[in-house]
Amino acid sequence: MKTPERGAAMKEFPLQKVFTLIEPGPVLLLTTAAGRRKNIMTLSWSMVMDFSGNIAIVTGSWNHSFEALMKTGECVLAVPGADLMETVIGIGTCSGADTDKFGAFGLTAKKGGEVGAPLIGECLANIECRVADYVEAHSLIVLSAVRAWTNPDRGERRTFHAVGDGTFVIDGRHVRNLRARMESKLPPGV
Ligand SMILES: Cc1cc2nc3c(=O)[nH]c(=O)nc-3n(C[C@H](O)[C@H](O)[C@H](O)COP(=O)(O)O)c2cc1C
Repeated sequence: MKTPERGAAMKEFPLQKVFTLIEPGPVLLLTTAAGRRKNIMTLSWSMVMDFSGNIAIVTGSWNHSFEALMKTGECVLAVPGADLMETVIGIGTCSGADTDKFGAFGLTAKKGGEVGAPLIGECLANIECRVADYVEAHSLIVLSAVRAWTNPDRGERRTFHAVGDGTFVIDGRHVRNLRARMESKLPPGV
């Protein structure tokens, strides 16, 4: 392994752009179902909170999905592969208030096992969730995963990540040779 570079000069970075340094990923899709009306939104602000499937997301009433999410207390977080990038950006730049996004983007809504919100057949993984908490001051919603599914048949396995400035990063090299040193930090079975 190469020696890391030392002490190159640091340059000040504007505070209003700090989020672009650590914007998390992968970009996700969030589905809801209010009665028979299904919807999808794009979501890049999410955070894993623990090993038991609690996940924080940031969204609010500026999106049509929010009302259904809070009313039903349920959603699905779907993980799209890099082959769905254009579709995901399309979904995140229109509203379910006036668009049937499953129809418009040709995605397959599948029935989950626990929640009314649909799984997305074309995604790499689907996590059925219930709302566990809502911190209104920060538009922060804590979701608890109640069931999860993966789709091993999808050819494109790479996810993609929003930088926050309108650009995206597709997953790169998968590093496996440090795993033995990580063992004490991993929960059993991972
Ligand atoms: C790449 C990308 C990431 C986004 N991330 C978020 C997010 O983390 N939280 C959020 O509230 N909106 C986010 N949005 C915006 C919503 O997806 C967008 O407003 C969407 O149209 C909402 O759909 P709805 O009105 O049908 O709920 C994102 C959009 C894009 C394109």
